[in-house]
Amino acid sequence: MNRLYNALQLKRLRQLKQLGFRYVPLIEKRSASDLVLPDDLKALEQIVSQCQLCPLSKTRTKTVFGEGNPRAALMFVGEGPGAQEDISGRPFVGRAGELLTKMIENVLEIPRSEVYIANIVKCRPPNNRVPTPEEAYTCLPYLHKQIELVQPKVIAALGATAYHYLTGDRTGITKIRGTVMDMGTFKLVPTYHPSYLLRNPSAKKESYQDLLTIKGLL
Ligand code: URA
Repeated sequence: MNRLYNALQLKRLRQLKQLGFRYVPLIEKRSASDLVLPDDLKALEQIVSQCQLCPLSKTRTKTVFGEGNPRAALMFVGEGPGAQEDISGRPFVGRAGELLTKMIENVLEIPRSEVYIANIVKCRPPNNRVPTPEEAYTCLPYLHKQIELVQPKVIAALGATAYHYLTGDRTGITKIRGTVMDMGTFKLVPTYHPSYLLRNPSAKKESYQDLLTIKGLL
């Protein structure tokens, strides 16, 4: 939350500078209203759709909040929207999304609409680059709130970026994938990102094992 607060203050200072201010005597202490995100997914989505807290807001077409069953037992967390997601405003709708949908429907045997799908950042990083730490940490409170509201039993972290920002751990995905981590209110299972599987089809065997692990937890 501190990072969100700092980003808000930075934005405010930039606005004051544009207005001609060269000196600001005091930044008041943060108030609860700066920080409290709504306990309602629709209201949260509305806030996210207007977010301008990081540079990604300047280049996005649409924010990609996330979608699915608001009471899903299983949540998938990816890295950030790609080109198709940026245009449609929906997560995982491109080639990687098609593969993710097959993984959910053919292996887990649940409709895609029954799970919840979100990302670390809600706006597309230009050229699909990895989000910077500033972008990721600024956006993370939105994901934390989504997790708090959906209350999933299991979260599948898709790829190294999702795993890193959900846990703070820097262990590579090849090493950590398939492990079940107790995160208190949910179990976290890191696994390969579908884009990685498209580039490395031989890793699908391990991904399949991870999905069976997830299925066993549900
Ligand atoms: N890759 C991601 O990490 N998220 C998406 O929504 C789409 C592709």
